[in-house]
Amino acid sequence: MLITFEGIDGAGKSTQIEELVHALAARGTEAITLREPGGTAVAEKIRHILLESSHEISPIGELLLFSASRAELIQHVVMPALANGKTVILDRFFDSTTAYQGYGRGIDLELLRSIIAIATCGIKPDITFCLDLEPEEALKRKFSKTSIPLAFEGDVLDRMERSGLEFYHNVRRGYLDIARLNSSRFVLLNALDPVAVIHNRILALLNDRFPT
Ligand code: TYD
Repeated sequence: MLITFEGIDGAGKSTQIEELVHALAARGTEAITLREPGGTAVAEKIRHILLESSHEISPIGELLLFSASRAELIQHVVMPALANGKTVILDRFFDSTTAYQGYGRGIDLELLRSIIAIATCGIKPDITFCLDLEPEEALKRKFSKTSIPLAFEGDVLDRMERSGLEFYHNVRRGYLDIARLNSSRFVLLNALDPVAVIHNRILALLNDRFPT
């Protein structure tokens, strides 16, 4: 089974992934957790190129780098794990490309679909949990941890995060459209709800859709 988590930066994906991994382990299901971009030696190098804040990368170059990282992860790690019957949890997958490179950078969605199909070998998540919140809220959360002023400036931000507030509004709009068009697998969750509430909803949805 392939479970993916999506949402704009700062929505709280990592916390929910950790909670889910513990809950699955308590039931005897060991899950493999991976993040995109990254997850193999080569994919981690590509991640570094993509997120290093001083690099300037064109939208198409960015798309192809995210896709190259994905192809490595899928072929070397995800496909073998799924073939062995493992549960894989991915922190971001191709919905990030649709939201960030499609809605955020404005790359044609049809073109994206073809490139996504090549990079994923056609693999789709069984279920996707998307933590939804306003970009302003996400920023507040990020900076409340570091006590750095609210602005898209400074070295605390990676290259993607320096794209600005309007970019993040477009990305969020992308996720809302993806939810509308893929209601059978893509679940929107209110990221402002308490951690435990979101976690219980995720468990309930998994139990409903994939009873053991
Ligand atoms: P990361 O530090 O993993 O962010 P987060 O903790 O928010 O997941 O950085 C990944 C960044 O790359 C994030 O800004 C989203 C972006 N991204 C894309 O733009 N396209 C993609 O296909 C993927 C996988 C990520």
